[in-house]
Amino acid sequence: MPEDDTVFERAAAAGRRTVVQLGTVEDGVRAAGHGAVVVAQGIEAGGHLLGTSRRDELVSVLRDRLPDACLVAAGGIGGPAEAERAMAAGADGILLGTAFVVAHESRAHGRFTSLVTGADESDTVITDVYEVGWPGRRHRVLATAVTADPGQPEKFIGRTVVEGKPYLVPRFGAAVPTQATSGRIEEMALYRGQSCTAVTSAADVVAAYAGVLRSPQTTETQGRTETRVGQ
Ligand SMILES: Cc1cc2nc3c(=O)[nH]c(=O)nc-3n(C[C@H](O)[C@H](O)[C@H](O)COP(=O)(O)O)c2cc1C
Repeated sequence: MPEDDTVFERAAAAGRRTVVQLGTVEDGVRAAGHGAVVVAQGIEAGGHLLGTSRRDELVSVLRDRLPDACLVAAGGIGGPAEAERAMAAGADGILLGTAFVVAHESRAHGRFTSLVTGADESDTVITDVYEVGWPGRRHRVLATAVTADPGQPEKFIGRTVVEGKPYLVPRFGAAVPTQATSGRIEEMALYRGQSCTAVTSAADVVAAYAGVLRSPQTTETQGRTETRVGQ
């Protein structure tokens, strides 16, 4: 959630709809109060965690509090059955993260994608060790030698290139390894939720959920066309 609510006004003034991912009921009510699409992230999610609730518990409470909000569920959705559960809890739609790591469009390092598909949810841990670049926020990653023993001495464990510029990869760096990264890939931040599929293109990931998401309804609101599912 933004600390400063004026971001909502600025987005609205630019004619944009705001989508906010959050992990608490309080933040959801605040975001919906500004007309934002509310993405409720549960602790099953890969990457940085925004709250402490499980996905469907959060979705369910938010749906009760916000009957008219556009509500999206995130965290631990690795297949249509899990998506159905999130929709049954009250979500209008779903957001996936880990499923897209494996898609070739992600440009994730091949070792990262093979570790993601070869693991299951019990291989993930919630930690705060990969803090360089994003301090003070817990994250769910694959368990690594670094999460097991954060006390190891090395400062840097690889090299990478971002937007054409070379960088060293710090031992506790928050960035995931991409195809431009070399070094000790298995010790880097390998975000993974309690979710995964072995589907290897983004279009196929989306297509797998076509039967779950009900037909979108298109409405005209304040001169803008809005599309919602799940009604
Ligand atoms: C590799 C990876 C990178 C992510 N990067 C971000 C990010 O930069 N910003 C963000 O808000 N969420 C990020 N997330 C979290 C997702 O937005 C989402 O909450 C999460 O992936 C949903 O859970 P799932 O991974 O089980 O599908 C990331 C997740 C993964 C797996």
